[in-house]
Amino acid sequence: MSTSLAKTTTTEKIPTAEPKATVSAAEMGARQREISVSEFFTKNRHLLGFDNPRKALLTCVKEAVDNALDAAEEAGILPDVLVKVEVAPSNGSAPPPASQATRFRVTVTDNGPGIVRQQIPPIFAKLLYGSKFHRLRMSRGQQGIGISAAGMYAQLTTGKPVQIISRTGARAAAHYFEVQIDTKKNEPRIFENKKIDWKPPRGTQVTLEIEGRYQKGRASVDEYLEQVAIANPHVNLVYLTPEGETREYPRTIHELPPQPKEIKPHPYGIEFGILLRMLHDTKSHSLSGFLAGDFSRVSAAVAQEICKTAKLSLNARPRNIHGEDAEALYKAIQATKIMAPPSNCVSPIGEKAILHGLYKQIKGDFYTAVTRPPSVYRGNPFVIEAGLAYGKGPEQAAAAPEAPAAPLAEGEQREDDSELARVIRYANRVPLLYQQSACATFKAVLETAWRNYGIAQSKGALPGGPMVVFVHMASVWVPFTSESKEAIADYDEIRKEIKLGLQECGRRLGMFLRRRERAKSEFRRRNIFELYIEEVVEACARLKGGKLAKEKLKTQLQKIATKRTGGARTDEILGGDGGPEGLPHSIIVTPEGPEGEAPVLPGAEASDGAPAEAPAPKTEKAAPGRRKGKAKAARATKAARSTKTAKRKRR
Ligand SMILES: Nc1ncnc2c1ncn2[C@@H]1O[C@H](COP(=O)(O)OP(=O)(O)OP(=O)(O)O)[C@@H](O)[C@H]1O
Ligand SMILES: [Mg+2]
Repeated sequence: MSTSLAKTTTTEKIPTAEPKATVSAAEMGARQREISVSEFFTKNRHLLGFDNPRKALLTCVKEAVDNALDAAEEAGILPDVLVKVEVAPSNGSAPPPASQATRFRVTVTDNGPGIVRQQIPPIFAKLLYGSKFHRLRMSRGQQGIGISAAGMYAQLTTGKPVQIISRTGARAAAHYFEVQIDTKKNEPRIFENKKIDWKPPRGTQVTLEIEGRYQKGRASVDEYLEQVAIANPHVNLVYLTPEGETREYPRTIHELPPQPKEIKPHPYGIEFGILLRMLHDTKSHSLSGFLAGDFSRVSAAVAQEICKTAKLSLNARPRNIHGEDAEALYKAIQATKIMAPPSNCVSPIGEKAILHGLYKQIKGDFYTAVTRPPSVYRGNPFVIEAGLAYGKGPEQAAAAPEAPAAPLAEGEQREDDSELARVIRYANRVPLLYQQSACATFKAVLETAWRNYGIAQSKGALPGGPMVVFVHMASVWVPFTSESKEAIADYDEIRKEIKLGLQECGRRLGMFLRRRERAKSEFRRRNIFELYIEEVVEACARLKGGKLAKEKLKTQLQKIATKRTGGARTDEILGGDGGPEGLPHSIIVTPEGPEGEAPVLPGAEASDGAPAEAPAPKTEKAAPGRRKGKAKAARATKAARSTKTAKRKRR
């Protein structure tokens, strides 16, 4: 033992000289280089939503459609958007079927204001170039990276440039461009630039040839466009699928949403660093001028109060405020009572439009929507909207088997039992299809106590049942968790608002379900009474020696049975009469109270022969008539119910 110890001590010598560096600081210094933003995102394309070919196809369509809608709305034009996804021919051979293809051509055409010629190359071939980043106003795009990133992905995977056609008016010429990014410099390279003949009087068309995969189902291009139609009922959307189908989503609301106004930052929640930068950059010469001029909701009186609390002069030069003074100013701002920011900088979808959208795209028995009052996170105003579509729709309910299913073995589940609600998430009217579990909206759905509203929910899981939960965040700046804009960051203020919206929807759903359950049990009781009426009438007739008006007594007893079991109201709730509260087939609950009238979809005439809400343009093809289907299904349910009663009577 002692020998080994001695060995260790002899080998453990304290180094006298520093070990020789293998690379010198000078050599390392020589390797330092600036990285262009395009080079960075070429290496990290997954940050922009291009991590796999299926998602890449969706991201390209999404970026182009979002831009098309933003541009048209900003110009005050009702958007008409055509999305065409084709299989691109490769090596001259015949294109493979869409499900096996690996190359696609995506073309998105809009009727927006068009783009001026000089701006086309930087917009499509320079990352971080756009008109929306520097303003506080709600729009789908915000970063100035979307469409140029899609172009960069095309360049990376197929080597093809982005093709653009744009025309700013009937009198202007249409310009055709082919551009790519010079990734080293993050500057556009123009391959083609010419005037061409293009029929539409105004608009933009973008074509990208990319490596991708087309697969239907969850998080597909198809689902994305369907969800766009739900949240944007004012858009007329046509989608030509790679399988040659044409899907049309005609507009059901014929007016634009109110234009959101640009605002200045609200002083609450603004970070200290931002305040310092604003103090440095301001054009105002006095502190009071700066406060009143560069922030929203700060009047001269409020500015005076802030200066007084911070013990700073009203006329202090903003540039000279730093250190302790700046900190005092920051604290004074937070301590002063300031009005909430104006809400006209965000344009929520609105309860009516959400109901229209959900009703149009999702089959259900009950729909509801809530728009919350505006709130603020980090100085940014936002509005949360929540909605629900519950049930399978009368068609499926009518088709459901009547007889109770066979009893289940232990541990066995009925097919319906495992069905979980689906959450559809939106940020500034754009559907979010990836990273659901990282999103504040999803977390809020999990945290809502759905059991309080009669909906099953396992611990830490989504609520169960045939239900679609809709959540929309509208804000001047949506805090996405990454550049690919897939999930909303989990700020407490945001999550709280979402939960409040969902709770209100849940309360209404609970009311609907309880009312329906009560009506069902009354209906069951009525059936039992009716079973015995025949017997009672016969017995009475026998007692009276046959001298009895049997039919009269029967009618009277039936009347009593109906009265004692909720009367006509029971039929109404079960959808027998389809009255204004004709649950469950078409009730829609709005803050004003429940309404039975669902929107009439284009092409579907109301059952009373009334025309649709507004005449659809001639070019629009009719959407499948949900209303007609509903009426038919209601009849079917009624018929099914009467056979059910008849059967029971026979028994
Ligand atoms: N179809 C279009 N019509 C008119 N202008 C457009 C169109 N597409 C893009 N633009 C303009 O090009 C700019 C850059 O678009 P890009 O998609 O790269 O960024 P963005 O939409 O501002 O933000 P984001 O990165 O979040 O999408 C937009 O800000 C818009 O001004
Ligand atoms: Mg964009």
